[in-house]
Amino acid sequence: MSHIPKFLADKNLEPNVSINPALNYLGTETAFGFGAEVIAVDSSNKFEHVYKFHVGDTGPKTPQPIIDVAIQALKDKQTKYGHFAGYPQVCDNIAKHWSETRGVEIKKENVMLQPGGKPVIELAFQALLAPGDKVIVQDPGYPVYESLAEFYNHGGVLRWKAYKNEETQTLEYRVEDLQKLLQENDQVKLLCVNTPQNPTGMMIGQEKLEAIAELVKEHKFYVIFDDIYDQIVFDGRKHFSFLSIPGMIDWTINLNGYSKNYAMTGWRLGFMIAPEWLIEIFGRFAINKWSNVNRMEQIVAGCVFGDVSLDGFEYKSVKTEVQELINKDFVEYEKKGMFVSDALNLLKPYVVCNEAEGAFYLFPSFQRVLDFDYVKNELNIKSDVDLRNWLLYEKGIATLSGSDFGEMGQGYIRFSYAEDRDAHVIPGMKQILKVVIELIEKSGQEPPLKAEEVEGKIGELVGKYFS
Ligand SMILES: Cc1ncc(COP(=O)(O)O)c(C=O)c1O
Repeated sequence: MSHIPKFLADKNLEPNVSINPALNYLGTETAFGFGAEVIAVDSSNKFEHVYKFHVGDTGPKTPQPIIDVAIQALKDKQTKYGHFAGYPQVCDNIAKHWSETRGVEIKKENVMLQPGGKPVIELAFQALLAPGDKVIVQDPGYPVYESLAEFYNHGGVLRWKAYKNEETQTLEYRVEDLQKLLQENDQVKLLCVNTPQNPTGMMIGQEKLEAIAELVKEHKFYVIFDDIYDQIVFDGRKHFSFLSIPGMIDWTINLNGYSKNYAMTGWRLGFMIAPEWLIEIFGRFAINKWSNVNRMEQIVAGCVFGDVSLDGFEYKSVKTEVQELINKDFVEYEKKGMFVSDALNLLKPYVVCNEAEGAFYLFPSFQRVLDFDYVKNELNIKSDVDLRNWLLYEKGIATLSGSDFGEMGQGYIRFSYAEDRDAHVIPGMKQILKVVIELIEKSGQEPPLKAEEVEGKIGELVGKYFS
């Protein structure tokens, strides 16, 4: 294999020194690269509107009380180096909140701040993986898990493939499939589990998590439990934490942070909960990598859950007022999720969408549209990646392709409904429905509804969810 990774070779960037061959295994998160393409199409003015369903970013803005704490901290000149792992009081506030919500004792020594939720993925791989060790990632799943697992442990990545019901096109993570992987492979050191999940918007409930805990006891592996969307859950569903299962605190590295729940993606503020000995290792990495999360943000991190005093300045908790504000965001996500799922299901059986359970994603199957001769041969759309590109460049609809999230995502399209309801979600659904209806008709099939019925049907759903 060439030592020049494809992503450099594609741009004719060929270093004249030998570089780390493992770079061949480093993937990416398409949301960022494709996001740049969406911006380019948007500013080309080819379309009056580009409807944005590709974003992994939040629609709502950071709650004002959080911004006010940050402004005050800057006015107080809280600008020097901060504590590498997070000030003890800040970690204590997080630990207390986590103990209450997870129903298990978590100490400040189990908490570390980090720049965003993401860094813990790499820290865990660097700390725990020895040559020959294996990592299990969900397929489809958040692509950074697979990318970094491949980079650090090429060949050692096992995929927990979602089971696909061919008739309904629905996906499900079955514990028996995970169990089989563990029986067939030794040296599994880590399992990465994300619920509510990006990209599917599906949740893994208590019963399955308890069954996974049994597997942890039997096979002795660690779990990166990623519940960064833990508060964004719908229809009375309750998020269940792996930490809540007796004994699992010793086996869990919990990725969480402020990005999604608190609409703070660009701040880069996250934290992890892990056994104390791992926090010691991660702290050492933090010192080697980024020194500290900036001091102003540490104050914010603490104030979201309690009071903070630092260097003679007092900062009051904003917990109650922030929670009230974000609860409204979650209600809006829920309405949009149900609206988008119902709207896409108007295209059944050609497009089949799952139920919105949590996070702000849906993962409908477009397989039957991709199977049309017209689509394959006339439009030359051979895969979900081609479909994603066609939707953007020819129709002004930005989505991500399912296979950006793993092999099991083939034939699916990821819709994020984080963006504004009136500017993107409602008009964008009208547009996608009309586009697909045209594809069905041009393929000589009878569409489940006519283009001229779209306004009325969407109007009904708008009435159902938003009035
Ligand atoms: C499942 C999942 N985990 C982790 C992250 C990373 O979060 P952060 O932006 O806080 O690093 C994301 C972001 O999209 C995500 O979807």
